[in-house]
Amino acid sequence: MPSIRRLTEVDTHAFREIRLEGLQLHPSAFGADYEDERAQPDAWFRARVIDHAVFGAFLDNGSLAGVAGLMVPTGAKMKHKGTLWGMYVRPVARGTGLAAALVLEIIDYAKTRVEELTLHCSPDNAAAIRLYEAVGFSVYATEPRALKIDGIYFDSLLMTKRF
Ligand SMILES: CC(C)(COP(=O)(O)OP(=O)(O)OC[C@H]1O[C@@H](n2cnc3c(N)ncnc32)[C@H](O)[C@@H]1OP(=O)(O)O)[C@@H](O)C(=O)NCCC(=O)NCCS
Repeated sequence: MPSIRRLTEVDTHAFREIRLEGLQLHPSAFGADYEDERAQPDAWFRARVIDHAVFGAFLDNGSLAGVAGLMVPTGAKMKHKGTLWGMYVRPVARGTGLAAALVLEIIDYAKTRVEELTLHCSPDNAAAIRLYEAVGFSVYATEPRALKIDGIYFDSLLMTKRF
C-alpha cells in the first residue's frame, strides 16, 4: 500500500524530478510546459510545494510514485472553488489503485476548504477521465483549442465535482 501525505519543502527535489518527468513524457496531459518548468530554480518548486498543497504517494521503498496538487485562489469571489492540478503517476505504479487513492486524499483535504473542485483533462486521456468520473467528477464543458503544442491544437475537458 502506498503512503500518501502532503509534501513539504524537504520533498522539493523529489517533486521537481517527478513533475518534470510527467511534463516531458505527457506534454498533452498538462497545461504546463516541460521546457518552461525545467528552467525554473529549486526555489520555484519549493514555493509550489508550500503554496499549493501538493500531495505525494510513496511506495514502500520510499520512492515518490505519484503526485497531485490542490490550488485554491485567494480572491474573495473565487476561493470557493479549488483546482486539482498536476496529477501524475509513474508507470511503475499505474493500474495499482494508487492514482485513485491520491485523488481521494485530495478530495478529503479539499472538502473542508472549498465547495467545489474543478480540473482540466485531455479528451483523449481515457484512464484519467475514468479515474475522475469514478470519484464523482463530471464533464461540464469542452474548451476548444485549450493548448497549442508544436503548432497542433488540443481541446480540454472541464470537469467538476461539487461537495
Ligand atoms: C492518469 C493517471 C494518473 C491514471 O493513473 P493509472 O494508475 O494509470 O489509472 P488506473 O490504472 O487506476 O486507471 C483508471 C481507470 O481507467 C481505466 N483505464 C486505464 N487505462 C485505460 C485506457 N487506455 N482506456 C480506457 N480505460 C483505461 C482503468 O481500468 C481504470 O478504470 P477501473 O477503475 O474502472 O478499472 C496516469 O495514467 C498518469 O499519470 N498518466 C500520465 C499523466 C496524466 O495523464 N495525468 C492526468 C492529467 S489530467
